Amino acid sequence: MKALVLVGGIGSRLRPITHTSAKQLIPVANRSVLAYVLDSLKEVGITEVGIVVGTTAAEIQAAVGDGAQFGLDVTYIMQDVPRGLADAVLISRDFLGDDDFVMYLGDNYVVDGIVDFVADFRRDSPAAQVMLAQVADPRAFGVAELDADGRVTALVEKPQDPRSDLAVVGVYIFGPQVHEAVAHIVPSWRNELEITDAMQWLIDHGSAVGATVIDRYWKDAGNVTDMLEMNRHLLETLERRVDGEVDEASELVGRVVVEAGAKITGSRIVGPVVIGPDTVVQDSYIGPFTSVEGNCRVAHSELQYSIVMRGASIEGVARVENSLIGRDSEVNAAPRTSTAHCLVLGDHSRVQVAG
Ligand code: G1P
Repeated sequence: MKALVLVGGIGSRLRPITHTSAKQLIPVANRSVLAYVLDSLKEVGITEVGIVVGTTAAEIQAAVGDGAQFGLDVTYIMQDVPRGLADAVLISRDFLGDDDFVMYLGDNYVVDGIVDFVADFRRDSPAAQVMLAQVADPRAFGVAELDADGRVTALVEKPQDPRSDLAVVGVYIFGPQVHEAVAHIVPSWRNELEITDAMQWLIDHGSAVGATVIDRYWKDAGNVTDMLEMNRHLLETLERRVDGEVDEASELVGRVVVEAGAKITGSRIVGPVVIGPDTVVQDSYIGPFTSVEGNCRVAHSELQYSIVMRGASIEGVARVENSLIGRDSEVNAAPRTSTAHCLVLGDHSRVQVAG
């Protein structure tokens, strides 16, 4: 079995971070979403992985390389324009050959991996296996209908009036029959070749499409709220470890990781929190569900429920919460007593100031 990981797409809801960084590389508990995806492929014994890349190809390649650091053998497949998930299958034909393959959307995270999902596929050998989860509002997803035996009878992409509450999670398994399906479908209203349409084609032509309904946590890292929620979830699994320096005036409460080279002075950190390598935390409070990457500086500030990316600095700020702070950003107090906010923001930035 091989795998195809899709990391195209522009991540418009995560601007401005995604102007300069692929959303799959945004750190969650200080590792990229993509790293968790690659780990779960390795866990099911897959080694040959094709990564379908778009405009962020160089950055993805710099982060993943040949895959050796994940125990994988990675091939890159270029998708010049994002023409849909089924198009990614179409252009990967040579890499995939006639092997079964897992297709994993690189911005999805499924807790506890895909072992059960792969086992379901191997037991039933359908033409396709789709992972489903109940959601409150399915309109933002592909939606599946099942028969009494749990087989998929219909799949619709982002329906206005969903006929079930079973959303398609971004992990699929296909047998070689899918190649005929992707060659026959036509672009949807959003001008994309939809993988849901390819699976519907398989059903209409008499092939079985199986479903694995999960009730564990999963997230599609589409926006800031979801990223912070995913971060919270992953930080819950932390075990306390202090490799950096913590002075006597500081207090670490609960599950806190301080990586080597980090320096904590005069501060209180209430876990779960991870502090990356060579980061300095001085005279500050860092509250639960916060991850700070390496080479950051947090001084005379309060920070909670946030992701701070490498090289950022936060100084003299009373309270930063629910925030995603990009690489090498600076958040400082205004130089003199003033009610004015002084901002230098990238395109599509969003700032909420205390009123
Ligand atoms: C894609 C799929 C959709 C699925 C979703 C899961 O949507 O088309 O069926 O439910 O991923 O994340 P997109 O992210 O392209 O909007």
